[in-house]
Amino acid sequence: MNKKLQLISGRGLAVIAKYLIGGFVLSSLIACGSGSSVSEPILIKFPHVTSPTTPKGLAAQRFRDLVEERLAGRVTVEVYPSGQLMNDDDSIEALAFGEVQMIATSLSKFDRLTNKFQVFDLPFLFPDLEAVERFQAGASREILLESMSLRGLKGLGFWHNGMKQFGGPVPMNNPEAAKGLKFRIMESDVLQAQILAIGGSPQKMAFVEVYQALQTGAVDAQENTWSNIYSSKFYEVQKHLTMTNHGYLGYLIAVNPSFWSGLPDDIRTELETIVSEVSSWANQQAKLINKDGLEKIIASGRTEVTPLTDQELKVWQQTMRPVWDKFADKIGVDIIAEAQGASN
Ligand code: SIN
Repeated sequence: MNKKLQLISGRGLAVIAKYLIGGFVLSSLIACGSGSSVSEPILIKFPHVTSPTTPKGLAAQRFRDLVEERLAGRVTVEVYPSGQLMNDDDSIEALAFGEVQMIATSLSKFDRLTNKFQVFDLPFLFPDLEAVERFQAGASREILLESMSLRGLKGLGFWHNGMKQFGGPVPMNNPEAAKGLKFRIMESDVLQAQILAIGGSPQKMAFVEVYQALQTGAVDAQENTWSNIYSSKFYEVQKHLTMTNHGYLGYLIAVNPSFWSGLPDDIRTELETIVSEVSSWANQQAKLINKDGLEKIIASGRTEVTPLTDQELKVWQQTMRPVWDKFADKIGVDIIAEAQGASN
């Protein structure tokens, strides 16, 4: 975790409070001045780390296009894809400090700021994206979206990427095959425990560094969605990909709370409508894009893709299940039970 993110999660709360108050005063001035004849459009800087053709990349562009159409001259959105502006850790911190106004960061990467999001990383909890959708629309939705508001992040909604698969130098039909391999993972203690449970060595690493780490052998293996494996070309440097569908990768659409509350009411309401429309659209697109990514990876002939049998899947599930017990108290047994309810 970078130093500034540590600041947010600990001592920096006081600093953030100062920014929140400062931001409130500033945004109140924007709001008051919105009736004047020379007001500048409100700028929303929106950095993210995947390419423009991924589920998140397309959703961010659609958000920008709809804002331009419906709030022309009042709000401008600048999307920075592919980690051009900053990596995910930096974007969380930049949002809290008001340097960018919107992010769509992997749920796993909020690990240091809230334990509640760890539910999304529990292996084999959600069987598919429909189960995740039911959970995200359920009783815990607002609790999850507001769980970091004191730390400078307000959640507006969730976007899918997809289900994660394992890739490495060998097929991983049995977790035994993972023993001793160095796995790149996102910044998440649940994912770390998951790799330890299968005898691997977890290495937390930023997304933009993964291709090179696989290419040079700094890590042997990784987990990601078909969309990310395809768009970031991980399949070119992984001899084998195994269809494990063992975990979920999705995003929190987050804004800075003081920026958000300081917006003129009509603008905030329109932006909420747009986020909600884009979220429904993006979640459908994500399913198609992952399917397309898998087909293109197979067609490339650059790697071997192996499915799991039902029996192999059971062994995987049993091997990883102890990870749930390690995090149940931190996440909250009620939240896990709700996620299980959405999954049955
Ligand atoms: C992303 O999809 O935003 C990146 C996920 C990762 O770091 O693996």
